[in-house]
Amino acid sequence: MPGLRPSRRGAVAPFVVMEVLAAANRRAAGGAAVFHLEIGEPAGGPPEPVLEAARRALGSVSLGYGEAPGLWALRAAIARLYRDRYGVDLPPARIVVTAGASGAFVLAFLAAFDAGDRVVVPSPGYPAYRNILRALDVEPVLLPTGPESRFQPTVAALDALSGPIHGLVLASPANPTGTMLSRAELAAIAAWCRARGVRLLLDEIYHGITYEEPAASALEVEPEAIVVNSFSKYWCMTGWRLGWLVCPEDLLEPVIRLAQNLYIAPSTIAQHAALAALDQGPALDARVALYRRNRDRLVAALRAGGLARIAPPDGAFYLWVDIRDRGEPATAFCRRLLEETGIALTPGIDFDPERGEGWVRISFAGPEEEVARAAERLAAWLVRA
Ligand SMILES: Cc1ncc(COP(=O)(O)O)c(C=O)c1O
Repeated sequence: MPGLRPSRRGAVAPFVVMEVLAAANRRAAGGAAVFHLEIGEPAGGPPEPVLEAARRALGSVSLGYGEAPGLWALRAAIARLYRDRYGVDLPPARIVVTAGASGAFVLAFLAAFDAGDRVVVPSPGYPAYRNILRALDVEPVLLPTGPESRFQPTVAALDALSGPIHGLVLASPANPTGTMLSRAELAAIAAWCRARGVRLLLDEIYHGITYEEPAASALEVEPEAIVVNSFSKYWCMTGWRLGWLVCPEDLLEPVIRLAQNLYIAPSTIAQHAALAALDQGPALDARVALYRRNRDRLVAALRAGGLARIAPPDGAFYLWVDIRDRGEPATAFCRRLLEETGIALTPGIDFDPERGEGWVRISFAGPEEEVARAAERLAAWLVRA
């Protein structure tokens, strides 16, 4: 209609990974083999008792609207997780159950920042941080990181930033690199934030999926940090759309009021399933053992194919691989790899808009047999191509 135009806030960048997925699906529809190493989704879904709990809930509990911050029983169970995993005592009232970690970001950013505020986001990093901030008219300040600091920000790098800073968003383990911050590094960054009145938000969605040391929570070093987590990754419940926010006291009421108005309450049936998921530690740890085998296979294949510069994969299920020596931009490299072998990877520009054409992200969350076959094909192609 004349005179109408879409808002500037809606003009966020698309996820390139979704375009890769579409190309891979077209190829599969034509009957060709496809190896999905592009999407960060655990294969197989949650363990059977979680599905059983959802089936039981269908016939036995009210599935009407719940309270905006979530079922009390689930909030209490999540609070126990903090005591058991990290030795942190939290009142369940500070836990707000959300529509995935994604929903938690929207609530946290709205409650903590005003339009025009500036929030530091490491690059490479998960693209939704900067895209959601932009959609809310908050300015993301990209902080480039590299191998010298395991692709994580340092206090020195934060000190070198100019202009006012209102927030800092971190992830440990991170996507796309899989690298972690030690407790001491986290404490130093949290102290930097505290001294300058900067809000610290730590995305802990990959906690539980670690290969060397368990991940430290921001709450171990900074009781007023905002912490985001989700049932999507460790608990293998991507499509159930359930996550949570550990909220500092001053943001609790704003976050709950925003949740009431933005989506009323998180899914009730998903919350009943999530209660059962919290008891599934051994089955889920077996998945982590599978990711580790996948990781080791792919690292060996990449090395055999001459790609040895890989961010240290401490956790999550990704490899961030330097392909600059191949002399081909990542988007062209990924397109050709898909056409010639059926292996789908994600070009790095999703995660690092400036330097990402030199990198690819490989997800190793898929089934073991598929990853093993892909690793063999990848090594052979790298040597040949
Ligand atoms: C670092 C990170 N944070 C958040 C999300 C979104 O998670 P959710 O499914 O809980 O919305 C993802 C998904 O890939 C992620 O990698």
